[in-house]
Amino acid sequence: MAKLDILTFPDPRLRRKASPVARIDDNIRRLVDDMLETMYAAPGIGLAAIQVNVPWRVIVIDISETHDRPLCLINPVIRSLEGEEEMDEGCLSVPGFFETVRRAERVRVESLDRHGERFELEADGLLAVCIQHEIDHLDGKLFVDHISMLKRQWIRRKLEKEQRQGVAAPVPRRSAI
Ligand code: NI
Repeated sequence: MAKLDILTFPDPRLRRKASPVARIDDNIRRLVDDMLETMYAAPGIGLAAIQVNVPWRVIVIDISETHDRPLCLINPVIRSLEGEEEMDEGCLSVPGFFETVRRAERVRVESLDRHGERFELEADGLLAVCIQHEIDHLDGKLFVDHISMLKRQWIRRKLEKEQRQGVAAPVPRRSAI
């Protein structure tokens, strides 16, 4: 396994729309393992392949505190969204920032697993937020697109300044998705 570099907002490569995986083979499974290692090391609770500069529809998530409940979604499709919920979100591609985002409270998603088997998942709470956040990534969207333009520009300027100065990203205070 290998730790991968995570792209940081406002890198334009984060804005690409990821393509469906045509064939789930050992290369994809290696990517999934590398993404899990990268996510756990960050540390984070979710990561989309686009964040490590691979524009395919692959997501890993683990919201357990013990880091032993990895979930892998390949070519996920949201089947239904219900209710409304507000939660503070962060993102490994927007290091150091947490903002309140409104999303659906419950989600039903259909996906392939790392062996190419189809499965359906119903989630609420943090897992539902995480799934919606990651699927946004696959469509080139970031959580900062859900907040005000002023806040988004402020975060963009701060991160651009940090990148120019080569300042290391702060260690996250809370779990980033
Ligand atoms: Ni994210």
